[in-house]
Parts: sequence; C-alpha cells; structure tokens
Amino acid sequence: MKKIVEKLYSQGDVTDNELEALINTSDEAAIKLLQSLADKTRQKFYGKKVYLRGLIEISSYCRNNCLYCGIRCSNKDADRYRLSREEILSCCENGYRLGFRTFVMQGGEDPYFTDDIICPIIAEIRDKYPDCAITLSLGERSYESYRRMKEAGADRYLLRHEAADEELYSKLHPESMRLETRKKCLFSLRELGYQVGSGFMVGAPFQTTKHLIADLRFLQELQPQMIGIGPFVPHHCTPFAGEKGGTTELTLRLLGIIRLMFPEVLLPATTALGTISPDGRERGLMTGCNVVMPNLSPVGVRKKYDLYDNKISSGDEAAECRDSLRKRIEAIGYEVSQERGDATGFTV
Ligand code: 5AD
Repeated sequence: MKKIVEKLYSQGDVTDNELEALINTSDEAAIKLLQSLADKTRQKFYGKKVYLRGLIEISSYCRNNCLYCGIRCSNKDADRYRLSREEILSCCENGYRLGFRTFVMQGGEDPYFTDDIICPIIAEIRDKYPDCAITLSLGERSYESYRRMKEAGADRYLLRHEAADEELYSKLHPESMRLETRKKCLFSLRELGYQVGSGFMVGAPFQTTKHLIADLRFLQELQPQMIGIGPFVPHHCTPFAGEKGGTTELTLRLLGIIRLMFPEVLLPATTALGTISPDGRERGLMTGCNVVMPNLSPVGVRKKYDLYDNKISSGDEAAECRDSLRKRIEAIGYEVSQERGDATGFTV
C-alpha cells in the first residue's frame, strides 16, 4: 500500500484500481505516509501559509430541491432571509477591518438576485476594495450572467459538481437538475476566466468508492483552482434525515489524495469537517489543506443558513474570532496569511 502512496506522490496519479485500494485501506503506515506527503506537497507550494476567506451567506432562499440540503425549496420549516445591499457592504467593511482580502458571496439560487441586482453590488465592492478578491457561489446561472458578473468585478466562482457519476447525481438531485448543466456551467466559468472551485460531498447517501473515483477523474478534467470537499451531514428536514453522515477519516483520506493529485490546488478545511469533529479542520490543515473560510455573515442570520444539522456558526469559525482561530492555526505550526491567496501558477 505504501508503494501506491509513493507513486501518487511522485507521479501525481495512479490507476483506478490503485485509487480504490488506497481509499479503502486500513493500513496505518500507508495512511500516515499519505498524510505526511500531502503536508510536504502543500508546504512545497504554499509553505506554512493558511489563506482566509470571509464567507458572506447572502440568501437562504433557493429554487432548487437538492435532496441533501437543508435550504431546499420544499423545506417549509426553513427560516428564510436575504441580505440587503447595505448589509452585504457592511459585512465587507467589517471583514476588511478584520484582515480578510477575499470575500465569498454565497447563497441559494435565489431568483431575487438577478444580474441587475447583484452586478452593481459586485461593482461597488470591486471599487471599494481593489486589493481584495471577490468570489461568488450563487449556483447555476446563464453564460451571459456569469459574463456580466465577471465584468462587474468578480474574480472567482465556487460551484461544486456534487457527483460526477450520472446515476449518483440523479439520486441526490431532483429530476429538474442535470449533471450536464452543472458541468456546462463549470466549463463556462473557466472559459470566462474565473478562478474556479468545484468539489463534492464525502459519504453522501448511495455513494461508493467508484463514485469517488469518478469525482477525482472529473476534477482532473476540469483542473479547478480550488477543490472543496466535506463530509455529508444529514439535515433533519430532508429526505436524507435518517441517513448516515460521512466520516472524518474518509474525508481526510480524500483530502490527502487530492493534495497529491493536484499539488498546487487551493484546498479548504471545510466547515462541515469542523462540524463533525472538533479538531477536523486542524487535521485537514495537516493533511494538505491550506484555506479556511470563517463566517462573515451578520450574526443574526447565521443559524438560518442551515445546510445541515449542527452547522457550526459561532466560536472560532466566526470571523470576529480570528485571534482564537489564528492561535489554533499557529498551535499546529501554520501561519495565517493576509494575502488574497490566489492559486500558485495563476496569473491575475
Ligand atoms: N451536508 C454536507 N454538505 C452539504 N452541502 C449542502 N448540503 C449539505 C449537507 N447536508 C454542501 C453542498 C454545497 C455546499 C454549499 O454545501 O456540497 O455545494
């Protein structure tokens, strides 16, 4: 098994059969080696730096009905909100003061945020904070919409592909959503010059090792600048309420594999990983991760952006707790960077 890890480290790829063996192994020495080579690789390209992204959750309205997600449109118990232009700008102001140089505007697919509404907000942030990166995570939109938002000043876009296998994708999403559409959006974003982030959930219902391999192969085709993965965590008001969640171990295994397959990628230690285990994000950072995304949303709405049960929203993942977050990062030997944190090799 250690031979497979070494091959992945030196060549950046292994066969499907080798990936399958590595994903499923319980060989402790190989797991330890994967972790240390993932860390060595991240340090080669990024040193000890951890980049911060300030996450502004602009709306919990969503027209989609993804079976796993707590803000799916058919969840009538969801407490919906959307931020005003003024609220979004005040999050940025607060974030800038706290040292953030990337703002991520994320939301459900809220029909309210048309291009005519969102583009002037993007342009205003671009104008006020020329040294900051603007990241959007607003789901599937038209090519023309992505183009207009880019023109208004957006730099990056996060859109997880969720599942690269057709059959699994259709079990996780309603009939109206298509893997093909999702992929088309991702390639449009890339063509328009966005730095793109994609990814998937680990341990989603019906997901097998073969599906995870398909996810890794799709990411090789897309070559995104960022890869976001986190464990699936059930939400009590969804059809998957009674399903098992993904594990920390499997998530860490995939993070290590991803770092070796995509040596220069930006890899966040996600909130979902921090939610299922208290030291999840630290362990992620020690297994190749180099990004953390603290919450910059107004405190009053945080609980309402309720994608899965027990989502952490106060404590060290809150932007205003950056000193304690910094201490946690330094305690494991890394350092918080004040830079925008573009992917290495990507010229802005
Ligand atoms: N568990 C874990 N992650 C989830 N997401 C949505 N619902 C869940 C859940 N129940 C993830 C999706 C989406 C991102 C914003 O949150 O992968 O792309």
